[in-house]
Amino acid sequence: PATTARGPHGDPTVSGVELPDVAAQFGTPVYVLDETDVRERCRAYRSAFPGADVLYAAKAFLCRAMVHWVHEEGLGLDVCSAGDLELAVIAGLPPERIVFHGNAKSPEDLRAALRHGVGRIVVDSTSETARLAAHVPQGTRQRVMARVVPGVAAGGHAAIRTGTDDRKSGLSIADGSAMHAVTRLVEQPRLELTGLHCHIGSQIDTVKPYVVAVRHLVGLMARIRDRHGITLPELDLGGGHAVAHRPGEHPLDVPELARRVRRELADACAQSDLPVPRLAVEPGRAVVARAGVALYRVLAVKRTGARVFVAVDGGTSDNPRPALYGVRYAPRLVGRRSTAATRPVTVVGRHCEAGDALASDVPLPDDVRPGDLLAVPVAGAYHLSTTSGGNSVGRPPVVAVADGRARLLVRRESAQDLRSRDTGL
Ligand code: LLP
Repeated sequence: PATTARGPHGDPTVSGVELPDVAAQFGTPVYVLDETDVRERCRAYRSAFPGADVLYAAKAFLCRAMVHWVHEEGLGLDVCSAGDLELAVIAGLPPERIVFHGNAKSPEDLRAALRHGVGRIVVDSTSETARLAAHVPQGTRQRVMARVVPGVAAGGHAAIRTGTDDRKSGLSIADGSAMHAVTRLVEQPRLELTGLHCHIGSQIDTVKPYVVAVRHLVGLMARIRDRHGITLPELDLGGGHAVAHRPGEHPLDVPELARRVRRELADACAQSDLPVPRLAVEPGRAVVARAGVALYRVLAVKRTGARVFVAVDGGTSDNPRPALYGVRYAPRLVGRRSTAATRPVTVVGRHCEAGDALASDVPLPDDVRPGDLLAVPVAGAYHLSTTSGGNSVGRPPVVAVADGRARLLVRRESAQDLRSRDTGL
């Protein structure tokens, strides 16, 4: 993890940089990202999945430096908007390394995907087939995959489970929509169906749901072969690999996932007399979550009844995940040593929302006071990418650390940035 090393003052360091120094230089709140950690996880994925495509899911966190890192480490990218796609292209990622997703792609999305020549567009509904084909210039063909719902319930919270039919994404195998869409796709001369895709959910900490999904997808591939006489050469299993936010939680064992998925794929294909398709995976969180630490300054401490509230200078505006998904973080005091006993506190934000909390009932030293720094580990994924800029509070900057040096990747969003879109009319 990003913060295991200890600096001279006993503080956690990230790649040799002390967190209080980052706070002093860049202010708080601030997101600190360990470049070495991100790169190592990219490499670990490539060695766990040799011969497969590893596509980093940009929705977890995206900026130009992140694109450079994943590209240099041999990964491709999963994007889900024209904006993400353009940022990736500007950062120099070859468009053929990009897969474009979305359950409701706008005309701008489709045009951008085709203009830049992305490697694959993942079709999510039957109606999208004709709409997409109408945008493809005559005489050319766009490679596409079909996102199917394998009927597997998995994922850390109801809001991030996507493997069953009651979800908005994908084409159900069970009710026939997947086969129906595939039929539409193979009829379109301007589209080339290269394979099936699924993404069954997020924060999945066991291998079994992936193995079941593989079996269902290969079953569909065999029926497609029987019905249409085509053998699909690709299978993309999406992402969803769990990370631990605090001790006692279990991350998904990625090398074990790779072994079991390969074995199941080989067995299922042999049984159906199909060649083994080329595999792709799309990890987002598992690449970047642990590399990130959020740093906050304590602004107020309040005791009311049995509760102690420690209020910091960020909150829901930079991390809505505790409110949305009940995620439990483990904040800790940095910047000074405390010998005081610990007691359970609730770390809250500065926003006008009763639910604006970063962590409830977490142990912090009894003498925590305004001016102290709190670090929230495992804050690299779905933080800035899920924020909104409410209460005219701008988003924190992102600082990368590597080899004992810190550099600004994304600057702080100012109140003026937020005001600049207001026409005043
Ligand atoms: N591929 C597709 C098609 C996806 O929809 C997603 C995530 C991923 C890959 C990457 O999943 P990961 O490996 O990061 O779990 N905002 C939520 C997570 C939403 C995930 C959406 N899709 C959160 O903060 O937990």
